[in-house]
Amino acid sequence: MVNRPEIRVADDREALAQMAAEEFALRADEAIRAKGAFAVALSGGSTPKELYARLASERQPFRDRIAWNKVHFFWGDERHVPPDDPQSNFRMAQETMLSKLPIPADNIHRILAEKADAADAAAAYEQTLREFFRPPAGEWPRFDLVLLGLGPEGHTASLFPGNTVASDPSRWVAAPWVEKFHTYRITLTPAVLNHADQAMFLVAGADKAEIVSEVIQGADRPEELPAQAIRPVSGRLIWLLDRAAASKLS
Ligand code: 6PG
Repeated sequence: MVNRPEIRVADDREALAQMAAEEFALRADEAIRAKGAFAVALSGGSTPKELYARLASERQPFRDRIAWNKVHFFWGDERHVPPDDPQSNFRMAQETMLSKLPIPADNIHRILAEKADAADAAAAYEQTLREFFRPPAGEWPRFDLVLLGLGPEGHTASLFPGNTVASDPSRWVAAPWVEKFHTYRITLTPAVLNHADQAMFLVAGADKAEIVSEVIQGADRPEELPAQAIRPVSGRLIWLLDRAAASKLS
């Protein structure tokens, strides 16, 4: 990495979820005060589950603190499956958070990953983004916050090593074939992710320590480590790590 991003380390997974929830709430308050809305792209996988549960929990302040009717939910990526599939990132967010909060249905902008052709799902999502953000010609959609995870081989969203499709500079949403999982995925492209006001990685566990160290402090090789392609053009890049995931940072 050329410029070292902001790194915050929490003692454990619970403290990490708390730290992420506080940051989510801060960014939401800020965007809603400034623009009357907060557009966030959720990440999938397992790590963010505790964050989502905490945001929706009746035992936590976030449920009452955030103006949920002004929050618009998008996804950074989705598996090529229907929304009720156990693999669906939408289903995970729906079950852990969205179904428990007073969120208008129109504020949930899921990727239509049930479409037979993943490329059609990507094209449809690009249209969804265009209709919501309405950027000037040649401009990019600007998320207020993009949540990102990190895979053991350095992928983020569904940007995997060797994916050329997702690196097309003109595309907002791509549908790369992911050999590792022998399936198509739908993903926001690095260009869209990098135009967010804030990109925030959420990574936990000792099994991620090596890849965290390689991505943040290792040689710059975004083709092999797509997480290194996340370099906000003008926004902030924050890594929220638990102590185990940060254990190999020098
Ligand atoms: C997905 C995610 C993916 C995830 C990483 C980390 O669709 O799986 O978007 O990029 O964030 O694979 O996943 P874990 O949190 O499960 O380790």
